[in-house]
Amino acid sequence: AAAAAAILLVIGLGAGFTGADTDTFIYAGCSPSKYQPGTPYEGNLKSLLASITDAAPNAAYSSFANGTGDGAAAYGLYQCRGDLGNAECAACVRDALAQLGQVCPGAYAASLQLEGCYVRYDGTNFVGRPDTAMVYRKCSASTSADAGFLRDRDAVLGALQAAAADGYRVGSSGSVQGVSQCLGDLAAADCTGCLAQAVGQLKGACGTALAADVHLAQCYVRYWASGYYFRPSQA
Ligand SMILES: *[C@@H]1O[C@H](CO)[C@@H](O)[C@H](O)[C@H]1NC(C)=O
Repeated sequence: AAAAAAILLVIGLGAGFTGADTDTFIYAGCSPSKYQPGTPYEGNLKSLLASITDAAPNAAYSSFANGTGDGAAAYGLYQCRGDLGNAECAACVRDALAQLGQVCPGAYAASLQLEGCYVRYDGTNFVGRPDTAMVYRKCSASTSADAGFLRDRDAVLGALQAAAADGYRVGSSGSVQGVSQCLGDLAAADCTGCLAQAVGQLKGACGTALAADVHLAQCYVRYWASGYYFRPSQA
């Protein structure tokens, strides 16, 4: 995944940014526990993952429940970044599932975030349940105490936080750009609350970093000063 492909975003707040490829890995989480081969859970999980693959060309977000019963039912969802078309979404989800199988083989529960999409499954139903756990955080090593930078950053974060209505937002102010998204099952008020927590984490933990990403269980917020967008080589 080279950093050469430029993706121009012209939606949301009207900002554009140059991002990495949609299949660029951001993070994965795997449960330490594994499912046993040949169990009902394995069968239901396979159905679930197949259903995700089938649904991705038609919708940017869907959740699934396959099978019934404690220990047997599988729950999952996927979501694509709000600016992706159906074909890009489907391709990203295919990549995410393939990477998930490699990174978390046999895991009872797992989640994986690429630049362009997110997938998660579990044997416990998590869909639509409030969860503000922090899943991933990254702050650039480069920082800036420049007043103009901090003003622009705070303006971007404020706009992203305030304007979550459709779940996906892009913002820019001066040299700073940002993007945020809530899961498709989150009510507007919960989305706003999730973004507020993520912004608090960004400012609290990343200080004056020139770029920062915070992913909570149900939303993420990212910002970067021009030229500081995270590259795969910095992962
Ligand atoms: C999995 O469950 C979903 C509903 O959540 C259903 O639409 C889909 O057909 C199921 N997949 C399989 C392969 O049974």
